[in-house]
Parts: sequence; C-alpha cells; structure tokens
Amino acid sequence: MLRPETPESLKLAQTLLRDGALVAFATETVYGLGADATKGEAVAGIYAAKGRPSFNPLIAHFADAQSAFAVVEADERAARLAAAFWPGPLTLVLRRAAYCPIASLAGAGLPTQAVRVPQVSDGFRSVLRAFPGGIVAPSANPSGKLSPTTAQHVQAGLGEAVDLIIDGGPCAAGLESAVVDLSGPQPKLLRHGALAQADIEGVMGQKLALDVDPAVKASPGQMVQHYAPSKPLFLNASTAKADQAALVFSDSNGFEQACALEVLSPSGSDVEAAARLFSALHRLDASSARAIVVGEMPVGGLGAAIVDRLRRAAAGRGE
Ligand code: TXA
Ligand code: MG
Repeated sequence: MLRPETPESLKLAQTLLRDGALVAFATETVYGLGADATKGEAVAGIYAAKGRPSFNPLIAHFADAQSAFAVVEADERAARLAAAFWPGPLTLVLRRAAYCPIASLAGAGLPTQAVRVPQVSDGFRSVLRAFPGGIVAPSANPSGKLSPTTAQHVQAGLGEAVDLIIDGGPCAAGLESAVVDLSGPQPKLLRHGALAQADIEGVMGQKLALDVDPAVKASPGQMVQHYAPSKPLFLNASTAKADQAALVFSDSNGFEQACALEVLSPSGSDVEAAARLFSALHRLDASSARAIVVGEMPVGGLGAAIVDRLRRAAAGRGE
C-alpha cells in the first residue's frame, strides 16, 4: 500500500509498526524498510521480505542522538561525530549496551549495533520518537538489487511484501550512509557513503582505517555483488554500442550511439551525481538495452562511494 505522507498515513505507520508490520519510509539517503527494532518477529519479517541473509545486521534509526546512545556504548568520538553530522548520512557501529532492547537478530548476534539519526520529515521524526528502542531499517530493496531512492522504486521492488510505503518524495542524497566502526580503538570505515571520508576524518582529527574491501567483509553486508541491476553492467567504458545503455558522469562524448543515456551531473558535481546514481540505474535497467556501460567516474569527495556501488553492481559479470 503506497500512500502520500499525511498526518493520517503517519498515524497508520505508527500503528502498523507497533503491531510488528513493515513500513517503508524516506530518509535523506535511500528509502528504508522499517520495523520496530525491539520485536524479533518484525525484524525477521524484514529479512524475509528482502530475501536478506540473516548474518547481515541492520541499522537502528532514532529520532535523536540521545535515544541512539541509550542502546549502545557511545564514547567521546561517537559524541563528536554525532554532534557534527546527525541528523545525517552517517552510521556508527558501537558495542551494544548491557541492556540493549534491540532484538539480537537485528544485530545478527554480534556484540555491536549500528545506529543512525537520519534526516527525515518532521512527521516521520515524530514516528521515530514513538519508538525509543529504534526502528531498524535496511534499504527497501530486494537483497542485492539496486537501492530505492523513490517510493515507486520500493513499490516495484518489494510490492505487497511491505505493509505501507509512505511517499516522502525522492531522496536528497541518493546514496546510503557512510558506516564507521567505533567498537574498537582504531576507527574504521566499513562502507563509503553519502558523507565523504575526508569530512569524517576532519571532525575526528585522525585517519580512518579502510575496511571496505569486499574480500575483507568486515561489514557483513558488503557482499561483492550488490546494488545490481538486472542487466549486465560494465565499467570503464569510453564508447557505447547501439544496443547498450550508457551511464556517464558529466561528459557524454563517445557515448552517442547508446540507446539510452544518463548524465549524472552535467556540471560535474559529485554530490549531484551521487543523488542521481540509483535513479539513473533504475531507468537504464528498465530500458530496452542489452547491457549498461559506465564511463569514468569522479575520484574525490563522494566519488569513492559512487565507484564502490558501481563496482559491486558490475561484480561477477567478468569485468
Ligand atoms: O543510508 C542507509 O544507511 C540506509 C537507510 C535506510 O538508513 N540503510 C542501509 O541499510 O543502507 P543496509 O541494511 O542496506 O546496509 C547496512 C550496512 C550493511 O553493509 C551492514 O552489513 C552494515 O551496515 N552493518 C550493520 N550493522 C553492522 C554491525 N553491527 N557491524 C558491521 N556492519 C554493520
Ligand atoms: Mg542495502
């Protein structure tokens, strides 16, 4: 059931979540598939709806940092990052508090829990406030597929498996949160995301260890093939054939033959490109092309996250 965001649909969302149902909602990054974090059965419903391996833990979302830090052991580093970036596209992995109310399935049985305070509408923040134990929410897409940045993407990908989809419009950032592990002495970046590594390091006053290599798999969700369209996808192209769709950063020179073309940012902005990445991939995947070819992508800023998603989308395709 897809509904515009209204006081009525928000009230319904709260009731459904309370009853253990699944509600999809907009955040600044991507749409999340939410459930009451304290209800094991509701959490199990998320894994079933997405076809997600149960060893892949979920992020718990909170209205504010105070509620987030009530369920984990937050230190001074976490407080500093939260003050700088929350609400925003940053997820912190911390040790669970002794009396963490979050269902252990949500944390895949790990001693840590990922928490985040997202940018959401005022209306949905009130819903979050009604769940001090958190709303766990992975991206609202079938496991391994393209992430959803509109309510229609959620509807097309998960359909009836979601009890309610609240349409909060397109997501502004368009890429998942950056995931930082603060559970040990050395802070680690587990996933590049909609907040640049350099910005996080600037606030921490120290370098992050990089643990984003798919072979290392410190973040269990970082499977090599992920974020995948249904068509084969090839990186580092400089031309396209007539039966291929093309995705380019800002310059479409050489890709004139493509039967469908998406230019992520004509002005060359990494932030704009990130915001449009998944929508563009959804459109190209729906085109009549046999394959998607991808031109060179930016290196600085959010370029690392963009390239990470594209590499995983291409994985297992011989490229
Ligand atoms: O922007 C986002 O983060 C979106 C919105 C909905 O908040 N959520 C999202 O969730 O992308 P998901 O489940 O698709 O990705 C969560 C990532 C996975 O790579 C998962 O393995 C990692 O966070 N993660 C979660 N809990 C973890 C933990 N305790 N330790 C290490 N990695 C963890
Ligand atoms: Mg995901």
